[in-house]
Amino acid sequence: MSRKTIVAANWKLNKGPSEASSYFEEFFQMTPEESDDSFLFFLPAIDLLAAQSQLQDTKVGWGAQNIYFENSGAFTGENSAEVCKEVGCTHVLVGHSERRSLFGESNEAVCKKIKHAQKNNLIPVLCIGETLEQREAGETNNVLKKQLVEGLMGVDDLKNLVIAYEPVWAIGTGKVATPEMANEAHHYVRSVLAELHQGLGDCVSILYGGSVKPENAKELYSQQDIDGFLVGGASLKPDSFYKIFEATL
Ligand code: PGA
Repeated sequence: MSRKTIVAANWKLNKGPSEASSYFEEFFQMTPEESDDSFLFFLPAIDLLAAQSQLQDTKVGWGAQNIYFENSGAFTGENSAEVCKEVGCTHVLVGHSERRSLFGESNEAVCKKIKHAQKNNLIPVLCIGETLEQREAGETNNVLKKQLVEGLMGVDDLKNLVIAYEPVWAIGTGKVATPEMANEAHHYVRSVLAELHQGLGDCVSILYGGSVKPENAKELYSQQDIDGFLVGGASLKPDSFYKIFEATL
């Protein structure tokens, strides 16, 4: 099975429903319909309903930046996968480094969220990546392997899964991994997936994230194991986000 090119936007805690709505109006003026299925948008939960009206008749995918691993109950402040599905979401971001470092999300919680997302027919985009300290200590592969092994323990459905490799030191810093460095990590991630799931690693799209911009996207995408991008800052404007997509054509 061939891997799919995906260009995903992570708006983080930016934009409310009315800004989201004008963003999509502008976005759809520049994007050809046939490219719709390459795009994903991860929005603040409060924008999801507004996004639904503009995205539901397109092939663009979208979702929340986090879910909880229960659908309802006394979990103040969390998002329900079932409700995300109700408002049309197709995907969900899981284990973003900001969730891990600022909100204490463990690999164990990430794993529960992945399974819960799949059970509720949402495709999880699992984010992994090493800190600068870990890279400098030569620990990158060990960190990635641990995040994959523990995050995917008991997860059998690799077809409904996307991985985003985001070196923490490259997120929002303007420091992008070199294409070779990124590809090396992607290649390693793929080999771990293949090891965990008898050769299935090849069907999983692996996105690179961390200071991706229109200027560096083409070179990164030219690497064999990079199937697309997860874009933070540069996704906040429709034109720069679209230019990143153009680099994959
Ligand atoms: P960035 O963020 O593109 O602003 O570095 C990427 C991310 O956090 O997903």
